Amino acid sequence: MDNVLRGKNIIIGISGGIAAYKTPQLVRLLKKSGAFIRVVLTESATRFVSELALATVSEERVYRSLFPPADTTGTDYTRHISLGEWADAFVIAPATANTLARLSAGLCDDMLTALFLTLRPGKPVMIFPSMDGQMFLSPSVQRNIAILSGQGCRLITPESGELASGLIGVGRMPEPESIVSSLEKALQSTVPSSPLCGKSVVVTAGPTREKIDGVRFISNYSSGKMGFAIARAASERGALVTLITGPVYLETPSGVKRLDVETAMEMHDAAKSCFKSCNIFIGAAAVSDYRPATSFEGKMKKEKPEIELTLIKNPDILAEFGMQKAPGQLAVGFALETHAGLDNARNKLSAKNLDLIALNFFDRNTSGFEVDTNILTLIDNEGLTTELPQLPKDDAADKLLDLIEQLYVKTRQ
Ligand code: C5P
Repeated sequence: MDNVLRGKNIIIGISGGIAAYKTPQLVRLLKKSGAFIRVVLTESATRFVSELALATVSEERVYRSLFPPADTTGTDYTRHISLGEWADAFVIAPATANTLARLSAGLCDDMLTALFLTLRPGKPVMIFPSMDGQMFLSPSVQRNIAILSGQGCRLITPESGELASGLIGVGRMPEPESIVSSLEKALQSTVPSSPLCGKSVVVTAGPTREKIDGVRFISNYSSGKMGFAIARAASERGALVTLITGPVYLETPSGVKRLDVETAMEMHDAAKSCFKSCNIFIGAAAVSDYRPATSFEGKMKKEKPEIELTLIKNPDILAEFGMQKAPGQLAVGFALETHAGLDNARNKLSAKNLDLIALNFFDRNTSGFEVDTNILTLIDNEGLTTELPQLPKDDAADKLLDLIEQLYVKTRQ
């Protein structure tokens, strides 16, 4: 991989959370990659990390106050402007709840917040919220995150794990190595002005499990690979991605907010809460069409020679979104077929009121469930059909998103 960091001007903004203690290491890694670094701290960040340490590793003075010392001369008074002009990217890590609130409100009473306003358009702003899990999930913090995402900032969902309080939850700042790799991707992105940048994209992925009893379920072979590839590709284009997934064994793509569910009803509930706010809904999950009418407590005994299982229909999540989507919202689905694929896919496109459907055939070796490749035929709501060759699922996801971008721009014209 080319070293995209070499020669780049990066500002690291540090606010006052415990994770600030990791930032000298972040600065060192970036310096090693050949980037030029300037560090900006909030007042409370200085409680967690020393200015001297940061000045030493960055080999530059660090900035905090908007007001330079009294003996300052020349352009130092307008450093917040010249630094904003200088920067190729602004990384705010850790971003506390307080700093998120101040950034989203447009306050500019210290160097970090003022710089946020002077950064030149199109330069990536990567914000790494880091705080207690309950604080992170609070409506106020989520609102501020949504505002900043809507402005095109890349909000990186914190990691889950042990928090400073000793509690387990979401809120940990990613390790410096991971921040560096997110920054590399942001700077490398070939589509910096993707129409998906800052837009809310919801992806369903994986199978669902429908409980027969406490230890058995009905499910399917879906691995979740296609949905995860779509979530990754959308996130790389700057979208704010929520991935609602059934049980799978896959790593969450960087920057993606993941909601784990088990049953179709749980997936339905999670998805419904995103219907109004999302710009694009992509149903890549293999949702079980039916669930047992009743589920036995504990383990069912094999006493009878024959048993009957009554199944009832699950809600069709994608169709529900398709039916109630507002103008400008996009609904995208998949059709996994074993025969009469084109006809079935076209019927689903219209029955579910979709904008785009990706048809794939079930073939154990090349496409559909479990395998790493897919062969998609994309059909849009005007009947335009695009046949893709066999591609790795990551590449198929990129092609799908290229078309989604075009449709999204069209529906908003
Ligand atoms: O009707 P069929 O199951 O083939 O439709 C597939 C599409 O609909 C997929 O995009 C799938 O994610 C979505 N779907 C859904 N909820 C269901 C069934 C399918 O969202 N209950």
